[in-house]
Amino acid sequence: MNKEELLTEYEKTFNENGQDVFFSPGRINVIGEHTDYNGGHVFPAAISLGVYGVYGPRDDTKVRLYSGDVDGDVVEFDINDTTVEKDDRFWANYFKGMITYLREKYDNINHGFNLYIKANLPSGSGLSSSAAIEMLMGIILKDEFNLDVDRIALAKMGQRTENEFVGLNSGIMDQFACIMGKKDSAIFLDCNTLEYEYKPLALGDYEIIIMATNKPHTLADSAYNDRVRECHDALEKLQQKLDVKSLGELDNDTLDEYSYLINDETELKRARHAVSENQRTLRATKAMQDGDLEKLGRLIDASHVSLHYDYEVTGDELDTLAEASWKQPGVLGARMIGGGFGGSAIAIVKKSEAENFKQNVGKIYRDKIGYDASFYDAEIVDGTKKI
Ligand code: GLA
Repeated sequence: MNKEELLTEYEKTFNENGQDVFFSPGRINVIGEHTDYNGGHVFPAAISLGVYGVYGPRDDTKVRLYSGDVDGDVVEFDINDTTVEKDDRFWANYFKGMITYLREKYDNINHGFNLYIKANLPSGSGLSSSAAIEMLMGIILKDEFNLDVDRIALAKMGQRTENEFVGLNSGIMDQFACIMGKKDSAIFLDCNTLEYEYKPLALGDYEIIIMATNKPHTLADSAYNDRVRECHDALEKLQQKLDVKSLGELDNDTLDEYSYLINDETELKRARHAVSENQRTLRATKAMQDGDLEKLGRLIDASHVSLHYDYEVTGDELDTLAEASWKQPGVLGARMIGGGFGGSAIAIVKKSEAENFKQNVGKIYRDKIGYDASFYDAEIVDGTKKI
């Protein structure tokens, strides 16, 4: 959708002219999955699929939200009422969280607004539509109320929103990637210190293809929180002998040496993934920098394998996409991204093979799963901004 069309939709919804239009990207993650809340490294990038928002100020203290993607009416609440919403108003919690945390720090957010939102990424696609929405709200409030808040602080508020308003104990990767994204670069982020570095996505003749499973309903949130707890329990057991604050501080050898402390098979597998995935992420970013794309690809495949066997968050749909990708000509690597269970995967594919690739993997997927996957060429863009 272009700016004019979005402004027209705003006008139809609220019977007045919209003031400003913003875009907040979704994200992919090259490697480093389920490492963020374990104090490890991630390597995500913001993409051109995301969420648009059209803003118009109000004289009163009402917030009126309308989503062009959710069936239903305008959701209305007062900026002073931030109680968690349930059922079909649930999506308002992403906005309520950000409003609450920003109002705790800035008392000049003293009037309400209308907001029309429209996504060009499928929700539940594992491409972080929720973080895109949180960062959209953050940047809109920063811009419209002239708040002296930096982008990383907004990312932290987005994570708190997930944790406290939505009930997902997520890490900070998604919000950080959406709001700190940089065109044609991935962000090498240490989730322990929040130190980061932009690395140009130098893939030569290759491109990243996003593959959405289109899996309908998943129970990903409770399984996600289970993983967070299992890693936490494994860490506590290791801390009996090791002076570490997170699994991200360990290497594979140290975990192996102290594994006798974790007397639980599931927790051991979870810890093994968290540690090995972090090590793979360090090796993969180095391989990319050295121009060793073959090695980068193998590490991406290994990430999927570890997410399958040790972390157990893949499932048939994501496994089918990854395994079908591995068999295609001109593929360097493929794996699931995001939380898992459904959502999306990525593949690094030779540009000249891309069309072939989509057809072949699409067919294998349809034959095995029974419905279509969607394919998108990943375009890497800047973080959330006014357009
Ligand atoms: C979800 C969470 C992120 C991260 C990924 C897995 O996208 O929101 O914080 O944990 O899963 O890497």
